[in-house]
Amino acid sequence: MQRTFALIKPDAVAAGHQSAILSRIQSEGLRVVALKSLRLSKAQAEGFYHVHAERPFFGDLVTFMTEGPIVAMALEGEDAIRRWRDLMGPTDAAAAPADTLRGQFGTNIERNATHGSDATDTAAFELGFFFSGLELAGL
Ligand code: RTP
Ligand code: MG
Repeated sequence: MQRTFALIKPDAVAAGHQSAILSRIQSEGLRVVALKSLRLSKAQAEGFYHVHAERPFFGDLVTFMTEGPIVAMALEGEDAIRRWRDLMGPTDAAAAPADTLRGQFGTNIERNATHGSDATDTAAFELGFFFSGLELAGL
């Protein structure tokens, strides 16, 4: 069993796609261990995406991630990190296959509907960034 961190980004929440995305998570056999809806401050978005701080798209990314509410989730399942990344599809939603979440609900390379951790160490950091030990325990 593995856990990963997943987000429904502001574009997909604003468009009302959260139920469809949750339903897809369930049908793919990933378990929602924790879930919360919140709106990130600028400092929180910068902290979450700190690995991209030097990238040219960082400012735009932070503006996008703070434009409205998001849904943060801890997902659990066998090989959950890879399975959630596969379900999301590639970063550029415009080039993502139609049966992926980004292909279905995203718009372009920035406004791409969902986020997923890319490795065990980033999953641990991101789960701890959004959830307390209590929220992640006992389910
Ligand atoms: P994520 O971290 O959100 O799951 O996405 P990812 O691994 O597929 O892509 P990553 O390289 O980590 O990029 C993080 C997010 O930054 C935005 N982005 N904009 N304008 C651009 O060229 C550009 N490139 C990336 C996207 O929102 C991407 O998901
Ligand atoms: Mg990434």
